[in-house]
Amino acid sequence: MYQPFISPVKIVSGEGSIQEIPALVQSFEAKRVMVFADKGVIDAGIVTKLEDQLKKANLEYRIYSDLIPEPPLAIGNKALQALKEYGADLVIGIGGGSSLDISKAVAVLHDNEGSVEDFLNLSGTKPLQEKGLPKILIPTTSGTGAEVTDISVFSLEDTKDVITHEYLLADAAVVDPELTYTLPPRITASTGVDALTHAVESFVSVNATPLTDALALEAIKRISSSIRTAVWNGADREARSDMSWGSTLAGLSFYNAGVAGVHALAYPLGGLFKIAHGESNAVLLPYIFDYIWPACLPKMARMAEALGVKTAHLNQREAALAAVKELKHIVDDVGIPSTLGAFGIEEKDIETLAANGIKQTRLLARSPKPFTLDDIRDRYRAAYQGELRFGD
Ligand SMILES: [Fe+2]
Repeated sequence: MYQPFISPVKIVSGEGSIQEIPALVQSFEAKRVMVFADKGVIDAGIVTKLEDQLKKANLEYRIYSDLIPEPPLAIGNKALQALKEYGADLVIGIGGGSSLDISKAVAVLHDNEGSVEDFLNLSGTKPLQEKGLPKILIPTTSGTGAEVTDISVFSLEDTKDVITHEYLLADAAVVDPELTYTLPPRITASTGVDALTHAVESFVSVNATPLTDALALEAIKRISSSIRTAVWNGADREARSDMSWGSTLAGLSFYNAGVAGVHALAYPLGGLFKIAHGESNAVLLPYIFDYIWPACLPKMARMAEALGVKTAHLNQREAALAAVKELKHIVDDVGIPSTLGAFGIEEKDIETLAANGIKQTRLLARSPKPFTLDDIRDRYRAAYQGELRFGD
């Protein structure tokens, strides 16, 4: 089977790259811009940096801020309505993954007849026919990779679903690490582990190629060497820059090779218990790799090296196990609880979680080791007990 490699039209990166906004907007010949930004990003003063650039270019713009993390369908449909009413000819999304996801979805749906639910992957009934408005995405966290992927995630009652289509790719992404300097430790930690999860899951995905491997390994190196500093000393420019590059590299890798078991089992944690996406992944990350490692030994050994483990004296099996342990160390070191109980989940909830997790067939299909319902139940139990068993 041949795996295509796709990337967005343009990625502008580096400290101060937000200054490229006027030129980018003008390149689309846009006159009226709708900016989607959540209240947290506005309160942190980050959106004023974007406004300064829009004013420089004499652009008409409106800021829409009725957004929340892990957005339900209603939030998406309201945002779509607001975009249509304003009559914008370009969309800018600035913020964390949820703000970028909403921006992508509404820019495309602007020119397609229907509501968000009509186009969902699992339960939708309509195909996307129009590309919609041009969109520029500006991440303010180093995590989701939403600026380089074609997917928008929405929360349903007890799980999540997505709209996914090439049309959702940004026309331009501006990745400026300066916008992440004020990100608080907890968000730096959860979004950073999300990025690491994208890198490690896509690296061992059944759809990985040498192209995605190169991106994933570089992402793993940068994120694992800098995440602790970025969390506990957010002003460290080098660590922030590494995280910024790392999350975009990981985004490009997982957009093409996909994520798998960690994200599949994390979705019900977000849907049923409203646990933030990054924390849902973090709490499961070591326990999923504790299960899949025997199916991808050589890659696990390469991963260990990229994670900074001294592998010279280790055989492949030992290196793989060291990689699993290092994933756990990272989650612990950045202050994210590594048991489900710490998030208020009880043992009796495992059955419901497993019943929802098995439904994520799109994600589970990319795992190097298949999951049965029993395996999924067992992985939730391991995360509940907080014990690594090394799978054998
Ligand atoms: Fe993710």
